[in-house]
Amino acid sequence: MTFLEVQNVSVDLGEFHLAHANLKLNKNDYMVIIGPTGSGKSVLLETIAGFYNPDNGKIFLEGNEITNLTPENRGISIVYQDYMLFPHMNIFENIAYGLKKKIKNQDIIKSKVLEMAELLKIDHLFDRNPETLSGGEKQRTAIARSLIVEPKILLMDEPFAALDVNTHAYLTKLIKEVITDCQTTCIHVSHNFNDVYNLAEQVAVMKDGKILQQGTCQDVFSKPTHNFVADFVGVHNVFEGTVTEIKNGITTVKLKNDILIRSADTPPKTKQEHVLAAVRPENIIISNEPFLSSLRNQMKGVVEDFIVRGPTVWVATNVNGTVFKGMITLSSYDLLKIEKGKEVYISFKSLNVKIIDVYES
Ligand SMILES: Nc1ncnc2c1ncn2[C@@H]1O[C@H](COP(=O)(O)OP(=O)(O)O)[C@@H](O)[C@H]1O
Ligand SMILES: [Mg+2]
Repeated sequence: MTFLEVQNVSVDLGEFHLAHANLKLNKNDYMVIIGPTGSGKSVLLETIAGFYNPDNGKIFLEGNEITNLTPENRGISIVYQDYMLFPHMNIFENIAYGLKKKIKNQDIIKSKVLEMAELLKIDHLFDRNPETLSGGEKQRTAIARSLIVEPKILLMDEPFAALDVNTHAYLTKLIKEVITDCQTTCIHVSHNFNDVYNLAEQVAVMKDGKILQQGTCQDVFSKPTHNFVADFVGVHNVFEGTVTEIKNGITTVKLKNDILIRSADTPPKTKQEHVLAAVRPENIIISNEPFLSSLRNQMKGVVEDFIVRGPTVWVATNVNGTVFKGMITLSSYDLLKIEKGKEVYISFKSLNVKIIDVYES
């Protein structure tokens, strides 16, 4: 059953129009909305949260219309890029804030705050004030504060945009665990395609106030209707396959024509699962001879095409019907004497193979 439905919603903000937005989300889905700056991602999110009134269309949550409900009455929490913590409250009080409106028993409040803070690994920060926290700690506090009231939906507006690369990576992993743990339905707005890659089950692509495409990662990756997605997928090697083995931390994915790819990425829950395996072109090594190494992936193919782009060369190698795009330096290209039809070996580390679960909808 559809959990959240945005039905033909339009919002007129003068210069900017959100036009006929349609979205459908099932319970416990993690949706990433992606699109360039100014495309209307925040306006859409804040319309769902109830801060803008649609001129047109309806919004349903659990089958009930919420189009005209006030934000407080929707059961929706929102997390912002700039955290918006209460500066005069310590971390415990920040997290407990929404709960205190619902529950009076101090012991229950304490235990719930502790539980949520442990999940987000901020239980050692209770007595601190927000201004003494790092960006990542502030955002973990903001997320804890939002989740503790058990919202029907958690909305996050570029929650990682102000964080450095390492903190972004750490929080991505943590958020995925916490959201799965809390079984929360989630919409996460981002302009960073890696968030789609790492977090999304559902993707919506926005541009110029319109939702151009919505679907599972598989739908959107395999049939992108917009250049923004096509460009991203185009520069990656994204392959459909089935998990045939999970052993010693290595997952084996079988692609068409029995090509096997080995990945050290977090394994899917079960074997036989339908997944996407992805490798970035810069992680593919091309050689003329097979070589002995610890690389888990090495296969023989034929150069199908190549493009020289300044100091780098893109080489498309056909391995038994599957094309791997590699990116090498101009000097390697010279050294290897790359030409169409040449037999080469491609190799890549299992560490560089990302597994993307395919969620059947
Ligand atoms: N309250 C508002 N009134 C008028 N225009 C707005 C308002 N809020 C946002 N906009 C405009 O709507 C457009 C989309 O904004 P926004 O949703 O914030 O984009 P995104 O989040 O995708 O970067 C922008 O051009 C912005 O200036
Ligand atoms: Mg925005």
